[in-house]
Amino acid sequence: MGQVIEVKHPLIQHKLTIIRNKDVGTKDFRELVDEIAMLLTFEASHDLPVEDVEVQTPVAKTTQKQLAGKKLAVVPILRAGLGMVDGILQLIPAAKVGHIGMYRDEETLQPVEYFLKLPEDIDKRDVLLVDPMLATGGSAKDAIDTLKKHGAQSIKLITLVSAPEGIKAVQAAHPDVDIYTASIDDGLNEDGYIVPGLGDAGDRLFGTH
Ligand code: PRP
Ligand code: URA
Repeated sequence: MGQVIEVKHPLIQHKLTIIRNKDVGTKDFRELVDEIAMLLTFEASHDLPVEDVEVQTPVAKTTQKQLAGKKLAVVPILRAGLGMVDGILQLIPAAKVGHIGMYRDEETLQPVEYFLKLPEDIDKRDVLLVDPMLATGGSAKDAIDTLKKHGAQSIKLITLVSAPEGIKAVQAAHPDVDIYTASIDDGLNEDGYIVPGLGDAGDRLFGTH
């Protein structure tokens, strides 16, 4: 079974508390989503392979660690996942970026895929699939299906707020995928929104309704 890592770092908790507030505006919301995404990625990248490298400091020659060159891909689920990409690229600037366009039908809550562009060598890359909200889990589950169909073999899902229902759905369909999240919330309301959540992440990021 995939692991669920709720990253309870004080900085993450503090920043998430700020953006839960309904009165926080688009500018602050955007900046903080990026910052939380960066902090979550720090945790999600803890097992990247490293190798020995010799370096001459001003004082001595020494053997130290560097990243072993494992390639990464960041794949946001559009739209809201886009809000996390810049923060992640600050940590791993050489990562390629794929896009999966998906929206939830407001009546059925079923995800509808409308765009797909992935790096050609997605099968050789560790994939960070990113979306601020994991609600029913339908979007993440389908996005992982799509990634696997295109050959992805190593996938981590990074979310800001997750409902237990969504976690269960992803784990049942994709037990090989670990989930890194800033918060496991209480559950879903009758409209499929996460409670307490932070509302509609896409709308709050882009200032739409
Ligand atoms: C939101 C969110 C996820 C999805 C989560 O996107 O960003 O992609 O809903 O819900 P689920 O777990 O029940 O599938 P939305 O469909 O609102 O599209 P948007 O990002 O374009 O606003
Ligand atoms: N999508 C969102 O943006 N927010 C929710 O609470 C659920 C789905």
